[in-house]
This record gives sequence, structure tokens and C-alpha cells, in this order.
Amino acid sequence: MRVGVIGAGSMGAGIAQVASTAGCDVDIFDQSENACQKALEKLEKILTRLIEKGRINQAEKESVLGKINIVSDLNKLKDADLVIEAIIENEKIKKELFSQLSKLVSKHCIIATNTSSLSVTNLASVCDYPERFIGIHFFNPAPLMPLVEIVPALQTDNEWTNEVYQIIKSWNKSPVVAKDTPGFIVNRIARPFYGESLRIFEEGLADFITIDQSLKIIGGFKMGPFELMDFIGNDVNYAVTESVFKAFYYDPRYKPSFTQKQYAEANWLGRKTNKGYYDYSKDYSYSDVDLDKNLANMIVNRVLVMLINEAVDALYLGVASEEDIEKAMTKGVNYPKGLIEWGRERTFSWCVSQLDELYGKYHEDRYRCSPLLRQLANS
Ligand SMILES: NC(=O)c1ccc[n+]([C@@H]2O[C@H](COP(=O)([O-])OP(=O)(O)OC[C@H]3O[C@@H](n4cnc5c(N)ncnc54)[C@H](O)[C@@H]3O)[C@@H](O)[C@H]2O)c1
Repeated sequence: MRVGVIGAGSMGAGIAQVASTAGCDVDIFDQSENACQKALEKLEKILTRLIEKGRINQAEKESVLGKINIVSDLNKLKDADLVIEAIIENEKIKKELFSQLSKLVSKHCIIATNTSSLSVTNLASVCDYPERFIGIHFFNPAPLMPLVEIVPALQTDNEWTNEVYQIIKSWNKSPVVAKDTPGFIVNRIARPFYGESLRIFEEGLADFITIDQSLKIIGGFKMGPFELMDFIGNDVNYAVTESVFKAFYYDPRYKPSFTQKQYAEANWLGRKTNKGYYDYSKDYSYSDVDLDKNLANMIVNRVLVMLINEAVDALYLGVASEEDIEKAMTKGVNYPKGLIEWGRERTFSWCVSQLDELYGKYHEDRYRCSPLLRQLANS
């Protein structure tokens, strides 16, 4: 299979590695030839490290590298069976690219976008044959993260969705199918992990370390929300929240936080600037934190119930199947268990009572309970 990758940044390079490792011939194009060269140099280093760790041998390294070919002209992708775009997240630039690309590839070529926040349907609209256009959303780093969200546009033919599903599976990834709605599955359902934690901080109920430690020690999450936002980058995480909020016509459930906005404005982006919610020039001993059990339970319950509500509501609105929602949150963001299963364990009636209590206290639409959660609690 011949795969074209457009954009040789962090995602494009990773996707090229995944496809070539799976045995595809990969042509990679970037408007900056230097970016392609850098991507190949980085890949060479990654593969050398994999040899040192005994994960691959020299022949495998050569085979992966040998299958990747840098092309300096978009026209060279004309014989591709599948083209995956991973360029800058800009609607206008992506549309210009797809309009041009869809005219030069064969009508059997699948054209895919790796966009995280734009409407796949909107991008498909500029293509000749929009029925072969689809979202293939990899997570960062693509070679390590198993989850891939497959997002058919309104125009996508089912036949292509099934074909893409099989291709992604054959690349050793775990595909899920998501409706083309803001944030798809993971970036929608995960919002309260950050948003509710920031809100708890803003209300002065707990500091960053207490919230992180509560969710890790009692909640079982691998990383706390503030550690994770520092890892992702406050600029990137804030931009995703803001775009989901706008795309949902300002639904208060997805309201961004002033705290995070200011951290981004102050350039306290997290690990990449050495300062975010934590100061990375210092060593932290998290174990020194003495957790107040009642406070820690309140934090976990509040964040967890918001996540469960979001997952159940995504199911209610047909964003994905229950199986795919559970798979997405465990494989895409490493949650300790599926959120719907977690809700069932805690009991759905407990979830409803927690949400109703929050709603009763704040009278904000942010805490409205999903109709399906109420229905599950009553059944
Ligand atoms: N970084 C992430 O965590 C992540 C995760 C999932 C999806 N995505 C999505 O993947 C896409 C790429 O993200 P990234 O983080 O790899 O970006 P990046 O900035 O690392 O790389 C983008 C590359 O695209 C190239 N480019 C820009 N315009 C181009 C054009 N018109 N034609 C050809 N090449 C062009 C740039 O030179 C650059 O090398 C975005 O749509 C983003 O939303 C990113």
C-alpha cells in the first residue's frame, strides 16, 4: 500500500513511522524540506534506540527507513492509496491543500485529516469526491499511543470508513469510530478532568498538588490534571478547551478557565517553559503531601462524576458506541478504567445524586445531568 503523509512535524513524522513499520511505502511531503529531513534524522535516532533496547534489529530499522521517501512536490502523491494530512491546524490552509490534493489523486484514493479540532465535514466539502474523505485522528506520540479515532464526515461513504478501520487495525493500532462532533471522543469526554479540577482550585478548595495527588492516589489516574496540563502545555490544552467550547455554541459545560488562560498568557506553559502549575527547576517530593481524606474524596467524586456524565452523554448523543467510548478513554488517555463501567460500579443513582447536589449548590448548567444517566439510574 502506498501512503502519502503531508506535514513532517511531530504528528506527520510519527504517522510515517507507524505506516512504514506496518510495511507501507510512505511518501512524506512538507512545505519545508528541512522539516522532512529533521523528521527522518529524528526517526533514525528513535530506531537506533529501539535496537539498543533490543526491540528491533538492524534489518528492521533499515526496512522502516527504506520505505520512507521524502518528496518535494505534492504532485508526487498522485499514486497514493491513502493520504494522511498532518499540517498546521488552520482551516483555510487545510482547505486549500485538500482542494488541490483531491484533484490530483485517483478517485479511489482515501484522503484523511489528522485534525484535532476542525470539522471533518467542513474539510471534506472542498474535495472532489468528498465521500472518500475521513478523519484519522492519531494521538501524540503516534508510534506509542494505541488509540486512533476514525471520524467519518457527513459525506463519507460507509465503505471507506470500514476500509480505513481495517487499515488502522492492520497497523497494530486500536481504532474507534467517532461521530464528527467537537473533540470527537477523547477531547470531549476528558474536558472535565481539567475543567473541574481548575474550578476546584479557583474556588480555593485545594491547591494543585492536593488535587493531583487525590486523583492519583484515590482516583487511580496515572497523572494528575495539573501535571498533565503542564505536560501537554497550557497553551495547547487551553486552545483545545476554547475550541470545543466555541464549537458547542458556548455550552457552559465546556467553559474554559481564567486560571489556565492566564498561565498561558504568562508563558507558564508547563514543562516546555520549565514553569507551569509546578516549577520544574525544583525537585518535588509529592509524597510529602498529607492528604485530608474527606477533601481528597470530595475532589475525586466531583471530577469523576463530571467525567462519567460526559461519557454517558456522549453515548446518549451517539458520538460513539459504549465499547468505543470505554476503549478511547482507557487507551487514548490511560484512564484506569472505562468511565461507564466506573459509573456502573459507583452506581448510576449515586452519580445522579452527586450531580444534582452540585446543580443545587451552583445552579449552573455546567452540572446538568445527562438524560441517559438519569434513565440508567432509574432502570
Ligand atoms: N501535536 C499533537 O499533540 C496532535 C495530536 C493529534 C492531532 N494533532 C493534529 O495534527 C496536525 C499536525 O500537528 P503537529 O503537532 O504535528 O504540528 P507541527 O507544527 O509539529 O507540524 C506541522 C508541519 O506541517 C507543515 N506545514 C504547514 N503548512 C503546510 C502546507 N500547507 N503544506 C505542507 N506542509 C505544511 C509545517 O512545515 C510543519 O512541519 C494538526 O492538525 C494537529 O491539530 C496534533
